[in-house]
Amino acid sequence: MTHLEHQHLRVVIVGHVDHGKSTLIGRLLYDTNSLPEGKKEELERISKKRGADVIEWSFALDAFQAERDQAITIDTTQIWFKTKLRDYVIIDAPGHREFLKNMISGAAAADAAILVVDAAEGVREQTRRHAYLLNLIGMRQVAVVINKMDLVNHDVERFQEVAKEITLYLKSIGLSPTHILPISARHGDMIASNGGRLSWHQGKTLLEVFDSFEVAAPPTARALRLPVQDVYFQDGGKRIIAGRVETGILRKGDMLLFSPTGEKAKVTSLEIWPPNKDKVEAHAGESIGFTLDQKIFVERGHTASHEKNPPMLSNVFRSSIFWLSDDPLKVGNSYKVRYGTAESMVTVQSIDKVIDTQDLAQDDRGREVARNMVAEVTLRARDLLPVDPYTDNFRTGRMVIYDGHDVAGGGTVSMEGYADQRRNTAAKSQNIYTVEHLLDRENRAHLKGHYGGVFWFTGLSGAGKSTLAMATEKALFEKGYHTYVLDGDNVRHGLCADLGFSPEDRAENIRRVGEVAGLMSDAGQIVITAFISPYRSDRDRARKAAPAHFHEIHVKADLATCERRDPKGLYKKARKGEISDFTGIDSPYEPPDNPEIVVDTENNDIDTCVTQILRYIEQVIILPAAAQKDRKKEKVLATR
Ligand code: ADX
Repeated sequence: MTHLEHQHLRVVIVGHVDHGKSTLIGRLLYDTNSLPEGKKEELERISKKRGADVIEWSFALDAFQAERDQAITIDTTQIWFKTKLRDYVIIDAPGHREFLKNMISGAAAADAAILVVDAAEGVREQTRRHAYLLNLIGMRQVAVVINKMDLVNHDVERFQEVAKEITLYLKSIGLSPTHILPISARHGDMIASNGGRLSWHQGKTLLEVFDSFEVAAPPTARALRLPVQDVYFQDGGKRIIAGRVETGILRKGDMLLFSPTGEKAKVTSLEIWPPNKDKVEAHAGESIGFTLDQKIFVERGHTASHEKNPPMLSNVFRSSIFWLSDDPLKVGNSYKVRYGTAESMVTVQSIDKVIDTQDLAQDDRGREVARNMVAEVTLRARDLLPVDPYTDNFRTGRMVIYDGHDVAGGGTVSMEGYADQRRNTAAKSQNIYTVEHLLDRENRAHLKGHYGGVFWFTGLSGAGKSTLAMATEKALFEKGYHTYVLDGDNVRHGLCADLGFSPEDRAENIRRVGEVAGLMSDAGQIVITAFISPYRSDRDRARKAAPAHFHEIHVKADLATCERRDPKGLYKKARKGEISDFTGIDSPYEPPDNPEIVVDTENNDIDTCVTQILRYIEQVIILPAAAQKDRKKEKVLATR
């Protein structure tokens, strides 16, 4: 047996309704002798009865349809056929909508796709939609068949015309077909043989095209991902963790890292039935049980990986989605998403782009995504989720979105513009203790005459953060307050000189500044920070560094205004592509959800804004009246 005999290739056949998918499948089965015994004769009989002059190949699928009707839970049918080279599985679904759902959920995951286009009708709505979806899910092997050539008199020019039309569309979405060929599924032209009325076409027959596709290599070379499906106990209390190795290889003795918990333990055994001590490896695609050397907390939905190359952890990510639900997706709506075996609620933070698959018209930053639209959205979860960008891991980097129990949409995960939050989750050093001060906040405030606090300015570059921060600092100082500004540009010359503007570097920038600001405010200072600080999660962490004394101030001006001001000429450079990762241009800005105050610099002058800020600051740093009186008394005593 050669290893090729083991291989089978999964193919999905897509295209507009009535462009001939079923006929094509029927004909493929016939040409490869894959129809059940007696089926051909039966088809001939039925077709004759109906007065059809050729066999109606699509009837061949009726048998499968019946099987599907019986098993309500099966919503894809697998239809097998063979060539000399190998076995093929055609993945089929009862209807257009089910089919899209299956493509999105991965139930119809295939190695290659055939896009069927009617020679007479040309490219239609679903032709484009299916092609777009194939591209979205990363399908790279796509062949186009221009079907029903018999209806256009096997005309070369018509073939070329339709071929050009579909090629242009595919090109515009970044997909190049492996082959384009004319066929007549009904008459069997160019399916298994290239003679007959389409002999003018020089290329491969469809079966040759099938044989030229490559079976996707099993993703064993990728990083290990094993979403936990189940945890169960055997008699005697032995705990077995079960799941499917999606990518990579799991080995006995491996140290595993579970996400999002960060718990670690070693694999002590691989459990299969019947038991086999020699089983020491499980490869991508295998379902496996295993035991651990530690009683760490593990449950369904956690992802096991190795310590090196774990999934990213984030509570915010982007997704290219395909929307199927009649109810549009809207900003602020919450949905259940499933990725691997994990489920989580996410809220739509923004709709960044809406694309009409028909004309590829783009509507930037839309308010909603209607049925059959494609969009780029930013989703936010309450907790950190383990995420893999689709480009790194096509098995775990996708998710399905539910509205109630129904698949509402789905798509691929991207972390573009967002940081992996894993490295910031835990302290590295061990054996460290907290040493208590002998002084507290009240003592320090008493001496200074006011409390300390962090006044965190956030906003786009050019919104006016630094200007307002410096003016506020001066005004406070003149009133006798102890205050200091930590400014983005300044800090980046020293404390954060090693950091750039990647999402990870920004996160680290804000982490350091947040900690410093927390310490300074603890020391009694009124700290004003002026950083874009574009990510909510980073600002939330800064808030935790100064609990109860953190005040978020949104210095607000829209992108157009900031770009018009462009005080440092940076927007101009960013638009020209001379600076990358520029906030608002090609890097996200997440405005605060619930800031303590919003300062509108678009509609107010500097003085008005400073007055508004001062009023707020003075109100929260003021000592209770009694304490102030005491302090005055002490001063008098001291000067005597
Ligand atoms: S933050 O995102 O990490 O908070 P920070 O406030 O420290 O940014 O620095 C922003 C300042 O750096 C901007 O005001 C601008 O002068 C300068 N800058 C240079 N490159 C960029 C960039 N790619 N994106 C944003 N600001 C940049």
